[in-house]
Amino acid sequence: MRACLRRLALSLLATLPVISLEGCASEGPRGVGLPDLEERVENLLGRMTLAEKIGQMLQVNVTRLMGHTPWDRGPLNEVWMRRVLVEAGAGSILSGGGAAPPGRRPQDWARMTNAIQEFARKNTRLGIPIVYGVDAVHGHNNVLGATIFPHNLGLSTSWSPALFERIAAATAQDMKATGVHWNFAPVCDLARDPRWGRFYETLGEDPLLAGDLAMAFVRGLQAQGVAATAKHFVGYSQPLTGFDRQPADLSLRSLQLYHLPPFAAAIQAGVKTVMVNSGSVNGVPVHVSSYLLTEILRNQLGFTGVVVSDWEDVRRLHTVYGVAASYKEAIALAINAGVDMVMEPFHAEEFTRLLRELVWEGRVSEARIDEAARRILRLKFELGLFDGPSTVDPLQADAQVLGAHRELARQAARESIVLLKNDGILPFSSELKSLAVVGPGADSVPMLMGGWTIDWQGPPAQELPPAVTILAGLRTLAPGVDVRHARGLPPRPELLPEEFVRREIDRAVEVAHGAEAAVVVVGEEPYAEGMGDRETLKLDRYQLELIQAVAAANPNTVVVLVAGRPLLVEAFIEKVRAFLMAHLPGTEGGTAVAEILFGHYNPSARLTYSWPRSLGQLPLFYNAFRTARYEPRYPFGYGLSYTTFAYERLELPEKLGLGEPLKLRVLLRNTGQRAGWEVIQVYAHPVFSPVLAPREALVAYHRVYLEPGEQRWAELEIPWARLALIPGDILGLEEPQVLPGKYRLRVGALQALFHVE
Ligand code: BGC
Ligand code: BGC
Repeated sequence: MRACLRRLALSLLATLPVISLEGCASEGPRGVGLPDLEERVENLLGRMTLAEKIGQMLQVNVTRLMGHTPWDRGPLNEVWMRRVLVEAGAGSILSGGGAAPPGRRPQDWARMTNAIQEFARKNTRLGIPIVYGVDAVHGHNNVLGATIFPHNLGLSTSWSPALFERIAAATAQDMKATGVHWNFAPVCDLARDPRWGRFYETLGEDPLLAGDLAMAFVRGLQAQGVAATAKHFVGYSQPLTGFDRQPADLSLRSLQLYHLPPFAAAIQAGVKTVMVNSGSVNGVPVHVSSYLLTEILRNQLGFTGVVVSDWEDVRRLHTVYGVAASYKEAIALAINAGVDMVMEPFHAEEFTRLLRELVWEGRVSEARIDEAARRILRLKFELGLFDGPSTVDPLQADAQVLGAHRELARQAARESIVLLKNDGILPFSSELKSLAVVGPGADSVPMLMGGWTIDWQGPPAQELPPAVTILAGLRTLAPGVDVRHARGLPPRPELLPEEFVRREIDRAVEVAHGAEAAVVVVGEEPYAEGMGDRETLKLDRYQLELIQAVAAANPNTVVVLVAGRPLLVEAFIEKVRAFLMAHLPGTEGGTAVAEILFGHYNPSARLTYSWPRSLGQLPLFYNAFRTARYEPRYPFGYGLSYTTFAYERLELPEKLGLGEPLKLRVLLRNTGQRAGWEVIQVYAHPVFSPVLAPREALVAYHRVYLEPGEQRWAELEIPWARLALIPGDILGLEEPQVLPGKYRLRVGALQALFHVE
């Protein structure tokens, strides 16, 4: 208290305006009154013991503060809080998927984070605030009653960074209302292999678009005072087998050309933290790669924030990868390679003890500890954690979060649904009198949500978030239509006798038979991470049978797919009249699907990934190196509208000096009967190049809204970096360069050549 009074006096002398008496209630100085952020950081760091600095480098799962076992979701337990927050001095707490306070409402979250902050403030020597981290990857998705936005893959098909930025801002507001300041998002991994259980968490397969979206997310989040995380650095999404955390073998050329740019974009937007890839690249677990974590991330990309490990991954260097003979050695390797904070979900004391020993033994330098602790403290200062009140108002949390952002969620869902086939049946005519709605997805909330919603593997049956199902959406939107429903399959049909399943299918057929048209909603039950890895991309045989039976009974059958990845459609696509990919559309998914089916919204989304015809084509992406075969069912960029567009003219300079602005003009006309959005997509590739270029690369895009008959010139600029290649022999170590020569450019069916000198 004396120190506090002295500081108060000092800051009065310096006539500095901000004096927090609240800060003084704890024993320690928080640098309040020092004018400059760096000074505040150094001031605090200078007062910390080695153990306190190491504590800052530790992040523990919140369940370790609760109940009696590591995964108890009980009330906070003071014994454990003391061990983790005081004795180990943990600087950060996270909620791993689903780790939440009982009740899970916004007010429960607020009370929980309040209690943790208060405990740390009152019981630790310096009262350093905790930075609390969550995976709010599609809204504040662990909170019951929060509005859930579509998952990233669907959102990326909107091609709209502006929309993504608004969603990030809304998410940040909800997070802050519950006392949470750190979001483990956005995912910057490129979509590469739909067998991978995290395909839906990506922003598609193109580095430019994924980078623009990541940048928008970082901006939207951080402008509200919540830290973003570019994850998972780097090369996580292209394991050889397609399965989570399996070895990846990626050339430096591929890393530079495809995988690094979205991270570079997030860093350019000022992302405050980066999470490390759990897997291995080229035989090295990324958590021990100084080359990736220091040489590339820090020295080349210029990242200055906090690097956090992924879940238990430092221990896994010993237990799974066997690159370290003990956990202690693993800690030394990871910290020395560049990991600043370790997500050690459960064993707080063990981690801090081992890292202290490593410093005493000289295997990790104090300078390295200072560097990591400094970055973490800086993050906390930047987030304002030392300045404002350390708690939030629980009732205000309910008021802010419950039911908020529904209109934005509806807009997001509309813009993330791709129409892939339509022989003219959609939109349904206003004359339609009866509609059969069948399939396991028709009346399901969990299927609209996917994983990372309420719980890690999706919402538990007894804790469903509020949402509009597709059935409800159709009933509300088309009150004049007789909407008849049958589920068409029992839950878990594979566990039931065949006759039972058949009876349910027959009931659906009966319903479909009597209606003018039928909508079959099929898809995937929620999953996350490795639990979502799949050896096949086929729909299960029950859902396939259901589609076939309904299509045979009703010639006007439309299929809606609710899924986190492209599933093979070869078995049914010719038998149905229209096909809609709804992705994982969240709270307002049902409204959006209904609006599209009935033409209240003209579909505007375009694929941001390639839709395969068969499993054997994988991995399949449009921007693979030249000579790669590309014969997808639906290509990258594809998507139908209820109107049609014609690309009439393309204008660009024939010759360009390197570095001059590369601008082109496109004349686009709406040749159909309805207003609608088109996404102008410009692709380019060098005609000749000394090393392989991508067969095509998206170099610019622009969304335009045109009335029927309207035509408009759009001007687009191509960032030069998009034409860069990595020259040199197979090592791929050289810097990206734009080479002089001839380039071919394509917009729709129009093509042009230009010359770079
Ligand atoms: C995932 C991360 C996530 C973390 C915390 C890990 O298993 O790979 O994406 O942020 O858990 O939940
Ligand atoms: C946690 C997740 C975490 C995963 C890592 C789960 O038990 O809930 O948050 O990402 O483990 O494997």
